[in-house]
Amino acid sequence: MDLTKEDITKSLGVDLELIEYLPYLLQDLWDMGTNPDTVLALINKYSILNSINAKVLDLGCGKGAVSIKIAQKFGVKVVGLDAMEAFIEEAENYAEKHLVGNMCKFYVKDIKEAVKTEREYGLVVFGAVGQLFGTYEKTLSSLSQCIKKGGYLIIDDGYMDDDSDYKDDNYIKHGVLLKIIKESGFTLVEEKIEHDISVINNRYFEFIKKRADELRIKYPEKTRFFENYVKSQEIENKILENKIKCVVLVLKKI
Ligand SMILES: C[S@@+](CC[C@H](N)C(=O)[O-])C[C@H]1O[C@@H](n2cnc3c(N)ncnc32)[C@H](O)[C@@H]1O
Repeated sequence: MDLTKEDITKSLGVDLELIEYLPYLLQDLWDMGTNPDTVLALINKYSILNSINAKVLDLGCGKGAVSIKIAQKFGVKVVGLDAMEAFIEEAENYAEKHLVGNMCKFYVKDIKEAVKTEREYGLVVFGAVGQLFGTYEKTLSSLSQCIKKGGYLIIDDGYMDDDSDYKDDNYIKHGVLLKIIKESGFTLVEEKIEHDISVINNRYFEFIKKRADELRIKYPEKTRFFENYVKSQEIENKILENKIKCVVLVLKKI
């Protein structure tokens, strides 16, 4: 089995059978998980990209919404990597359209491979990619290799409150997360909780449902997969709105 395909579909909450339809299903979205405005505000607040040679790495960049907005606002070079070729092609087109084609370089690459060679970034963004490395400890140690000393990591993820009785292998409790960060070689600069995610979720959901309905008509033999996808998106949104705290973490490498 192709493990990267499994990572991609898991990060987007879609069945492996639907991977070829992802570009169609997600055609109306540019950002696909992380709110670019939140990331820009945090970079600004902590003057993360003030150094003249600041380099940014956006791992799991999707269609490049975060990368391109960073390049536009801060005038820095950004490298965006994603395993989905169709997303990378779109990212390149968006960058040209936003006049930052010369500042943004996008490549088709598996994040797990990239962390073995990418080095000395002032900022790494890991936006809504999920538990790709298995555990939070491994995520932080793997991403840390790409960041220079004093550099930053911005992660968009979620956690469960300590008193929550909800169980979900994709998330850990807040206290556990803080302990892992403390032992990771990073300091926690800010955890910015995203309160109004239902607005974004509803917008994403309406687009996705419309496209899934179109595909259901075109490929009736796959109806079950498209219906399951829409249902799973609905369930995932409810979990994110009611059981999980969606958070953007700013970490600084010690
Ligand atoms: C939920 S999307 C988020 C995209 C982007 N960060 C954003 O917020 O718009 C997750 C992205 O991670 C990518 N991805 C998942 N596993 C990957 C892997 N092993 N290597 C590279 N990209 C991966 C997917 O293709 C997808 O574009």
